[in-house]
Amino acid sequence: MDWGMKNRLSGVINPKTGKTVMLAVDHGYFQGPTTGLRELKKAVDPLIPYADCLFITRGMLRNCVDSQTKIPIFLRVSGGPSVLGDLSNEDITTSMKEALRLNASGVGLSIFVGAKNEERTISNLGRLVNEAEEYGIPVLAITAVGKEMGRDARYLGLACRIAAEIGAHVVKTYYCEEFEKVVEGCPVPIVIAGGKKIPEKDALQMARNAIDKGAVGVDMGRNIFQSENPVGMIKAVRAVVHEKATVDEAYKIYKKEKA
Ligand code: 5RP
Repeated sequence: MDWGMKNRLSGVINPKTGKTVMLAVDHGYFQGPTTGLRELKKAVDPLIPYADCLFITRGMLRNCVDSQTKIPIFLRVSGGPSVLGDLSNEDITTSMKEALRLNASGVGLSIFVGAKNEERTISNLGRLVNEAEEYGIPVLAITAVGKEMGRDARYLGLACRIAAEIGAHVVKTYYCEEFEKVVEGCPVPIVIAGGKKIPEKDALQMARNAIDKGAVGVDMGRNIFQSENPVGMIKAVRAVVHEKATVDEAYKIYKKEKA
């Protein structure tokens, strides 16, 4: 890995713990004003001090995040369809020049293995990696978004391995039973998405399991910003990811903040 690439990644994946808490707030790129992110600035500002990275689109970055922020940015650079259409019909929407102009630490794009536009989204990833390598920008490949996707270790293992083979530097996927098998077959770091909002303790358990089975962290959205207490929740997630907290210890942090 080139120096620039290593340097950018080390700003996101903490070299001391080898872990990361990325905060995903890109949902509007196909869902519109998602619950919890309707007023993105209000939602995100209090969470920024506790996140290692913000995963966001260029539009929301420019309009809703203070340019003096120190938080590393991973830019969502794919899109196209809305939640009303075929989600797999994505293309690259943001150029590498834009990513550099916005001082991004990395870029992220979805691949849709097994969906209608599988081939195009995988070759989008290839093109993005080709360009990103020229500038030392890490690429996060996002796998398994969409209702029709099976989320078992076999499917997620396939999708993550393909992402790594095509050249992704980090892969985001979902947690599943036998997650260690997904990690085993994927030689690049894996972060998990949180998925739909579930009770806080369950989300902390999922994060604990994922870390124990080899994930380097989370790129979590709804289970943080849709929580009754988003700051408490991100602090609790941090404790799980960076401080080896048990679920009970982390849940206490969440409850204390709530109180
Ligand atoms: C959607 C995404 C989201 O960033 C990802 O799903 C993480 O958010 P959540 O924890 O809410 O699932 O990439 O395409």
